[in-house]
Amino acid sequence: MVTSQNIQLQSILKLNEEISQIQDLDAVLDYLLTRAREMTHADSGTLYIADGDNLVFSYTQNETLFTSNLDNKNLYAAFKVPINDNSIAGYVANRRELLNIPEVYSLDEALPFSFNSSFDKSSGYCTQSMLTAPIINAHQDMVGVLQLINAKTPENEITSFTKDDEMLITYFAGNASVHIERAELTRELILRMIKMAELRDPKETGAHVNRVGAVAAELYVHWATKKGIDPIEIKKQKGNMRLAGMLHDVGKIAISDLILKKPGRFDDDERMIMNFHTIYGARLFLNSKSEIDQLSEKIALTHHENWDGTGYPGKIGDINKDIESMGEGYKGEEIPLGGRIVAIADVYDALMSIRVYKSAWTEEDTLNELRTCSGTQFDPELIDYFFEIYDTVKAIRGKYLD
Ligand SMILES: [Fe+2]
Ligand SMILES: [Fe+2]
Repeated sequence: MVTSQNIQLQSILKLNEEISQIQDLDAVLDYLLTRAREMTHADSGTLYIADGDNLVFSYTQNETLFTSNLDNKNLYAAFKVPINDNSIAGYVANRRELLNIPEVYSLDEALPFSFNSSFDKSSGYCTQSMLTAPIINAHQDMVGVLQLINAKTPENEITSFTKDDEMLITYFAGNASVHIERAELTRELILRMIKMAELRDPKETGAHVNRVGAVAAELYVHWATKKGIDPIEIKKQKGNMRLAGMLHDVGKIAISDLILKKPGRFDDDERMIMNFHTIYGARLFLNSKSEIDQLSEKIALTHHENWDGTGYPGKIGDINKDIESMGEGYKGEEIPLGGRIVAIADVYDALMSIRVYKSAWTEEDTLNELRTCSGTQFDPELIDYFFEIYDTVKAIRGKYLD
């Protein structure tokens, strides 16, 4: 007999297949939350990831409030909830038990936890029903908490979560732990590669690469949405852009310490040697079938190309051969999209940050510089999009501090 539960269980199996193709942690969280909300008809939801004694607010979706990609700043909110009985999510993590609350504003006063209404107050949202489940892995470690809010009837009225929802979400959360931990491992591996580069070049900090990766991913999403690209494809590529964007300067690992660690500005010869970090970086990812590696190769190679053709390394033929000098620069849309996107995210972040040879620029000067260089150094369409998502860019800067 085909029951609705059967259909839902089948959709969990399909989910496992689809999600195993997604590598990036944020993309995995996004995907899991989308599916969990679909299964339970929840209007909104949040995923928290356990970090020591805290739960870190890690991903959120809200159909009523955040309908467009321009609102992605909410994804970069940085706050923590202690794992204890005082909050709903904290209680679920602490007790490792699911809570199904039909009406959060009429919780029994005798309960140890209470509902924090600050988000409702600041956003105008009205939370009613809430299903909160612990995400625990096979070793019984606390991985995180899944919180679903406001179950909806087919008529779009808010209702309570059902017993069936409880069962489905319990099973779903067990499954989710596998995918979250796999994506955490991928993110950690990439951050370790970046740590290696950072040991060589102290300018490439984890915070800088996290910001460049996140801004590149958001700029891609906005561009792709404007182009009418399929939303599932956008989710997948967003994750790839995030990880590949983080690796833009990993080729610096092959540059001599004498140059990399030189305080002050480079002379012409030193700058020329530095420019080779694009080629060295691309070589790390050559001949790979993985989509992330292919995108990483393109971004490493082309993130210093300029829209007007004055960038580097330009047309240099086989990047595996010995290369004596840079080629004629790629121009306009000849430059791969990933390279054009990361160029903006990287320069923005570099100007706003302190470097050994310069102090941080003011926000005003930085934004003026981007505007001035639109159409010469940068893709003018992407510069427009950058300004359209600037609230999100600022939220990203607030999340990944130096
Ligand atoms: Fe670079
Ligand atoms: Fe950089």
